[in-house]
Amino acid sequence: MKENIKVLISEEEMDKKIRALGAQISKDYEGRQVHMIGVLKGASFFMCELAKRITVPVSIDFMAVSSYGSSTKSSGIVRIVKDLDEPLMDRDVLVVEDIVDSGRTLNYLQELFRDRGCRTIRFCTLLDKPDRRVVDLDIDYVGFVIPDEFVVGYGMDYDQRYRNLPYIGTMEFTEE
Ligand code: IMP
Ligand code: MG
Repeated sequence: MKENIKVLISEEEMDKKIRALGAQISKDYEGRQVHMIGVLKGASFFMCELAKRITVPVSIDFMAVSSYGSSTKSSGIVRIVKDLDEPLMDRDVLVVEDIVDSGRTLNYLQELFRDRGCRTIRFCTLLDKPDRRVVDLDIDYVGFVIPDEFVVGYGMDYDQRYRNLPYIGTMEFTEE
């Protein structure tokens, strides 16, 4: 099978959207510090670009969870692979994701982080695939709503590849 990638969202569109999200977040968190938590590995590219566009004080941490394995279908089980470095007590947490699919990952993190005593918790995702949602979830900041297609690039992978693409692309498989 040959893998073809078609551009879905260009680098320019991405930059523009991230600037807009950064401006909105800066406004909403005026006078506070945003504690950004990126969900590894996918959200790392977006998280860094977004942090650069936020003008209020920012601190960052990362967490790695696994729910996907190397297939393109979610297993439904969320497991902590790498925990946070810092406590969340009284922090204004902004969880940053690359893409929300079933919603299980963010749903799990929401409960976990609430139990750890954060002051507020909000969610920001670059992409949202609402057609695939299986749990109820309020997402505060969404970059782009996309159809139910498997995407790669800008941190997102297919079998650990294509994370480094500077745009978002859809995967197509063709016979060689
Ligand atoms: P959820 O828990 O089902 O919402 O899964 C979210 C996670 O699944 C994301 O953080 C991604 O790591 C992964 N994922 C979901 N859809 C895609 C996709 O189209 N391409 C790459 N990764 C995806
Ligand atoms: Mg992710």
